[in-house]
Amino acid sequence: MNKRKILVTSALPYANGSIHLGHLVEYIQTDIWVRFQRMRGHDIYYVCADDTHGTPIMLRAEKEGITPEALIARVHNEHLLDFTGFNIQFDNYYTTHSDETRYFSENIYTQLKAAGLIAVRGVEQLYDPLKKMFLPDRYVKGECPKCAAKDQYGDSCEVCGAAYAPTELKNPYSSVSGAEPIKKSSEHYFFSLSDDRCVNFLRRWTREEDHLQPEAANKMYEWLGDADEKKLSDWDISRDAPYFGFEVPDAPGKYFYVWLDAPVGYMGSFKNLCVRNNVDFDEYWKKDSSTELYHFIGKDILYFHALFWPAMLEHAGYRTPTKIFAHGFLTVNGEKMSKSRGTFITANSYLQQKLNPEWLRYYYAAKLNATLEDIDLNLNDFAVRVNSDLVGKFVNIASRCAGFISKRFDGQLVVGEQYQIMCSFIDEHFASWRPTTIEKAFEDRDFSVAVRQIMKFADEANEMIHELAPWEIAKDASRGDELQRICSLGIQLFYLLSRYLKPILPKTVGDIETFLDCGPLTWPELVDGQKISDMLLPAGHTIMVYKHLMTRIDIKQIDALITANKQSLATMSNSHSQTRHGEKQQHTITPIADTISIDDFSKIDLRIAKIINAEHVEGADKLLKLTLDIGAEQRTVFAGIKSAYDPEQLKGRFTVMVANLAPRKMKFGLSEGMVLAAGGGSSAKELFILSPDEGAQAGMRVK
Ligand code: MSP
Ligand code: ZN
Repeated sequence: MNKRKILVTSALPYANGSIHLGHLVEYIQTDIWVRFQRMRGHDIYYVCADDTHGTPIMLRAEKEGITPEALIARVHNEHLLDFTGFNIQFDNYYTTHSDETRYFSENIYTQLKAAGLIAVRGVEQLYDPLKKMFLPDRYVKGECPKCAAKDQYGDSCEVCGAAYAPTELKNPYSSVSGAEPIKKSSEHYFFSLSDDRCVNFLRRWTREEDHLQPEAANKMYEWLGDADEKKLSDWDISRDAPYFGFEVPDAPGKYFYVWLDAPVGYMGSFKNLCVRNNVDFDEYWKKDSSTELYHFIGKDILYFHALFWPAMLEHAGYRTPTKIFAHGFLTVNGEKMSKSRGTFITANSYLQQKLNPEWLRYYYAAKLNATLEDIDLNLNDFAVRVNSDLVGKFVNIASRCAGFISKRFDGQLVVGEQYQIMCSFIDEHFASWRPTTIEKAFEDRDFSVAVRQIMKFADEANEMIHELAPWEIAKDASRGDELQRICSLGIQLFYLLSRYLKPILPKTVGDIETFLDCGPLTWPELVDGQKISDMLLPAGHTIMVYKHLMTRIDIKQIDALITANKQSLATMSNSHSQTRHGEKQQHTITPIADTISIDDFSKIDLRIAKIINAEHVEGADKLLKLTLDIGAEQRTVFAGIKSAYDPEQLKGRFTVMVANLAPRKMKFGLSEGMVLAAGGGSSAKELFILSPDEGAQAGMRVK
């Protein structure tokens, strides 16, 4: 195999906000791609960092009464925890506020200056005389010059949509101090993008060698204009003190604008890694480097990455990116993420609510392609799809076959002749399972195509197992060989699917590696002449006892997530009606929980209880209040069975209760135990409380 040397980055998230599900589109997309390349054995580094400079960070730190350094250190921890929670595996997650980034920022600036590409010009800007600082557009507010709407931002009006310069606002005020801004001029440093050298270089670069996706290239071309019309203007790269950032060399009181040092942070982060891991930095960044460099970004920051950044690198003597991969924006339920609707969902809240990160990774993968199209997280579809694909199709294969292998064959898969028969069978019936299509789809970032193909395979596997029906064969003791062979077949197919899904589901497949006891799964590289059976676990391989690998999404978890992210309660009803609808669509079997010992079980004191009274609870829409007789005493239990039972039906009945469950204080009183019931997950009507056979007495222990 030809070993590639690849450096990959995701955009550096701003240190003034939390990671949300929109950001995660990008980090998950990148992580899947990187893991895929790692599995194939390429040398690949994935670096990122916090983007820490600029006015907003400075002002926020001031507001919190801490230093910017303390603020960015705290946020760095939060961001890293979020990313780790979603199994994003950076080789380095650094900060732009670092010596390395300072070094390369100064170095690039100095090279550009030496090349005659830095200009200095006076710029007139609004200035806060009280706070003694120049005001970025978003910190100036006032009345819209077009429609006179009050409290509009300095660049555009949210009421009439007009765009204008902050100097055009009527009755402007500084949102930092409230003072009326004055116009003031100061010297700014510019990168001369309008210089012929830059324009000609960019005209070439944006078209050549697929550096950009076709849509992105077209967009850049609109900005660049044709050969004789010059559209690019010089880029203002300095800001005046006070500013949190790096000072421009030999220009006291002037700081690099955050967007100058932000992409340089890619180099800074990588340099930091190189020093620690003894990697040759120059091999990756020198002009004409033969290594590959990819930047994953959102479409909103294309301008910086496809024009400014390559022009900076080119004229400062460094290599330029191999490709820029831009993706679209996330919408939730078809709309922009919204705080009031509760769809501005933070990564942290998702993890706090105990939703499985692998669910989101899978869903994004199922939606992502290589274009700039927006992607929609439809929360109902999310639950339905994850439950049906991952739990219903994928994990199901293992859970149907593993039990027989453990119980009947001591965990051993077939050997010898039986193994050969199984291999021939696989080569005959699953010849289409070659990695080719999936591999190409992963490489091209067409993850939705990869997922579709993998799920098609999973369907085929399930159909085959259904047809061969090992559970039927198991009834006949004389058909042991056949049973072992069929279940081994199922496990082998599951193993292959796991290899294909590993870039998307690293944690789950990690658990599968333990279950299959097979070591880290690599990407199957099948050459011509090799067969599907060349990718299998060896004959006689022994697997571990199956433990459930993934739970289903309960729509209630999504409700809770929305509620946790909702600022206003006014729009509650809306999200509720949507989730109700989703509940109807799913019906898959919940996997069996982890094995417990008999000692674990006997900790639960189950008793026969006689329901001596049952009544409605005022103000509770799900609960009934039960009075239970368990022989020695009476208990009050609030049971969530109102949707399925009328109190009158219950009086006098016997059932089973957990008698030693810690009492729970509820809004309506103390609940002293729990009655057992089946169902109740997806539909409230499908709920069944247990009854003992006739003759059982209140208080008898159930063992
Ligand atoms: N700090 C800059 C990037 C500097 S890169 C040298 C920045 N930060 S950001 O926090 O606003 O965004 C980080 C990345 O997340 C960007 O690529 C951005 O496009 C992406 N996304 C932010 N919100 C997003 C969605 N709602 N949907 C998809 N991607 C989103 O930009
Ligand atoms: Zn207006």
